[in-house]
Amino acid sequence: MIDTHAHINISPLLDNVEKIINNAKKNGVKKIICVGINHETNLKAIKLSEKYKEVYASVGIHPSEVKEEPNYLSLLLHPKVVAVGEIGIDLYWRKDNLDRQIDVFRKQLKIAEESGLPVIIHSRNSSNVIYEIVKDYNVKGVMHCYSEHSDLVDKYLDLGFYIGVGGIVTFKNANLVLEIVKKTPLERLLIETDSPYLSPVPFRGKTNEPKNVLYVLEKLSELKNVSSVVLNKITTENAYNLFPKLNNTI
Ligand code: NI
Repeated sequence: MIDTHAHINISPLLDNVEKIINNAKKNGVKKIICVGINHETNLKAIKLSEKYKEVYASVGIHPSEVKEEPNYLSLLLHPKVVAVGEIGIDLYWRKDNLDRQIDVFRKQLKIAEESGLPVIIHSRNSSNVIYEIVKDYNVKGVMHCYSEHSDLVDKYLDLGFYIGVGGIVTFKNANLVLEIVKKTPLERLLIETDSPYLSPVPFRGKTNEPKNVLYVLEKLSELKNVSSVVLNKITTENAYNLFPKLNNTI
């Protein structure tokens, strides 16, 4: 398995990162995309990718961090930086700085377009706004932990996007995510944890870590009525298709 979205570059995961990577390996996780949200965590993600062969990095300015400028262009040349992200718009935590969020988001989409790297998109109460912006750019990417309007799924799929599924799919009231999963063809699904957040059942409420991506895979295989071995093969191929730099080693 590949955990396509984990923040092992922040506390508490960073404090035990070696153990957490080993736990993941024991559960069959071969690679982890460690996602930055600001300059400090971008650099930490790259450092981890240099130290651990299983770890790859994604760099970006998250919508909650838009006081910072997206001036990380040189980092994208690093062989283990596989994506621009996480970037996006969040209208759950803050609405008053939407103009700034849009400005920083557009700048980063342009950076992704020019560098040829895929994007990892964070959307919260904002998938309509995001769609109207993203369609202006020639980028591919993933809607990470997507759990908004299922009617937008087809539109994102038409843009060439993938749908990232995390622990929410195992929750009891996950109807919206179940609908999204139903609409998404196997070849556009990615699995992720968003560690340390969103622990799947049976670890709900505890700190999440990449090893738990196994529970996401198992739930998805049940929902899609395909064996977890086959689904693992397909979602792994999907990850390599979207993030070709996952083939790089240093
Ligand atoms: Ni995240």
